[in-house]
Amino acid sequence: MKPSILVTRAIYPDVIDRLAQYFDVDSNQEDAVLDAAALHDRLTGKAGVLANAADRIDGALAAALPQLRAVCNMAVGYNNLDVPALTAAGVVATNTPDVLTETTADFGWALLMSTARRVTESEHYLRAGKWERWSYDMLVGMDIFGATLGILGMGRIGQAIARRAAGFGMPVIYHNRSRLPADTEQALNARYVGKDELLAQADHLILVLPYSPESHHAIGAAELAKMKPTATLINLARGGIVDDAALASALRARTIFAAGLDVFEGEPSVHPDLLTVPNVVLTPHIASASEKTRRAMANLAADNLIAALDAGPNAGHPPSVINPDVLPRRR
Ligand code: DGY
Repeated sequence: MKPSILVTRAIYPDVIDRLAQYFDVDSNQEDAVLDAAALHDRLTGKAGVLANAADRIDGALAAALPQLRAVCNMAVGYNNLDVPALTAAGVVATNTPDVLTETTADFGWALLMSTARRVTESEHYLRAGKWERWSYDMLVGMDIFGATLGILGMGRIGQAIARRAAGFGMPVIYHNRSRLPADTEQALNARYVGKDELLAQADHLILVLPYSPESHHAIGAAELAKMKPTATLINLARGGIVDDAALASALRARTIFAAGLDVFEGEPSVHPDLLTVPNVVLTPHIASASEKTRRAMANLAADNLIAALDAGPNAGHPPSVINPDVLPRRR
């Protein structure tokens, strides 16, 4: 008998077909939102789950589901998973790193450029019929070429963003839990600074650090107050890293110039004050959303699930395990 698995959200039908070669697949192709109770019910008796970054899988759920052996996120971020609890329970957890790095870095630049040069605000202005004549100060923004790029969180995506900065003649400063090796810093033309210096010196600050209790509200009122009034802030990482209410106040008071946000506290809800300030570009968590990358993420999540449940060519060796210590003693 094939093991049973759940795919919590709609994904590419050919990926479902691939999973069906190995498993009895319960797939939520109708894409209904599964709340905690529905997730528990649909996961009962399942050996594995291909999950989405919005599916909260914690210790209580893992304890209530003794058949569950593998939780495979279709996301690089995994703050939706209680990894220590899954590890203690012997459940393999996986994510989808690397395949989305360049696409997400591209989007960071799209958001940065739209924010600094007021692209969406300009389009709204034009569509609203407000464009009557040229004027010297109409919708003026901030320069990107030659400006100082600040990056908070210098993992794979942060480094991919930094590489692109060379084409814009931008000095890069960064802050990270651990400093990069000297040769990597040199290759990226990036200088390590303390967080306060990063806030004070960056003309454009991009957030690409993982969410954790330690990074909750890493950017709040106090941090925003340290930024230049001409600075922009881009959040590509996770909702909760920025205090969205404090950011909306800073934008309204123009203590920073503008922000670009792809992620939000409590998404898909967006803080109402962010919806009424003009100097913010808002996108619905789409940084990795290119056709090629989303397919690669779905296929990697499927590869992980197949291997974690001891099937397929990599049986027992999922390509991207978050908790490798669990492999020898997994359920
Ligand atoms: C990720 O991969 O973490 C993206 O934010 C999609 O959730």
